[in-house]
Amino acid sequence: MGLKENYLSGFLGFVFLGLGLVFWVLIIPAVLFFSASLYFLYVRYQFSSQGGKLQDRIWSLVLSNLDWNGEGRALDIGCGNGALTIKLAQQNPKAHIVGIDCWGKTWEYSKKICERNAMIEGVSERVVFQKADALSLPFDDGYFNAVVSNFVFHMVGKAKDKRGVVREALRVVKKGGKFSFQDEFLLKQLYGDMDDLIETIRSWGISKVEFVQTRDTDFVPRELKLPFILGTMGLIKGTK
Ligand SMILES: C[S@@+](CC[C@H](N)C(=O)[O-])C[C@H]1O[C@@H](n2cnc3c(N)ncnc32)[C@H](O)[C@@H]1O
Repeated sequence: MGLKENYLSGFLGFVFLGLGLVFWVLIIPAVLFFSASLYFLYVRYQFSSQGGKLQDRIWSLVLSNLDWNGEGRALDIGCGNGALTIKLAQQNPKAHIVGIDCWGKTWEYSKKICERNAMIEGVSERVVFQKADALSLPFDDGYFNAVVSNFVFHMVGKAKDKRGVVREALRVVKKGGKFSFQDEFLLKQLYGDMDDLIETIRSWGISKVEFVQTRDTDFVPRELKLPFILGTMGLIKGTK
């Protein structure tokens, strides 16, 4: 997270610095762009495994909120490079796990990368990756004992209202099965009011559902609680 923004703000900083040599007033935007570039460097450091290890901790939040006994099948929706899928498999040595993703152009992830990562981590015999759309999952109702997802739903589909994506994810959870979904749930444009969202999910026949404001977890630095970083992060967990 932050690499593109880092390059762009750094580049603009140099452009305005150059122009500022002619028009002094342009030194101001140059300073602002360099500051933004430094901020995104800091964000990258916090997320990296050599730095703040935030990415790892964010995946752990999803798994620690999944109250599952590890029996049967689980699904990771929008698995990216397979990291969360693999962790789920490692934590549940008897389970069979499926990771799905559309692997579009926005990310440098692919099915091949996921499979290679699963092989390196020694879980490839119990993990399958499949290209699929989160809006229309190619599985029967109730196919999985557990379903997880991390920072995917807000990207799915053109419609602003993302409740349909949550509903589709819940469709494939078995009755009595568990789920843990982390996303930008505090972004009202996407999910509306949280109490209303939870009530709506209950009205879909979900027996137990709870919202966890994971943005307030103690390891999330205050500087990263901006809306476009982790400021709208939350998690929905429960039992179907
Ligand atoms: C921010 S990344 C998160 C990846 C992974 N869940 C993680 O925590 O590392 C978002 C992922 O959602 C995937 N994605 C976006 N729209 C999707 C869709 N309609 N169906 C399936 N995956 C989708 C992207 O390809 C990308 O891998």
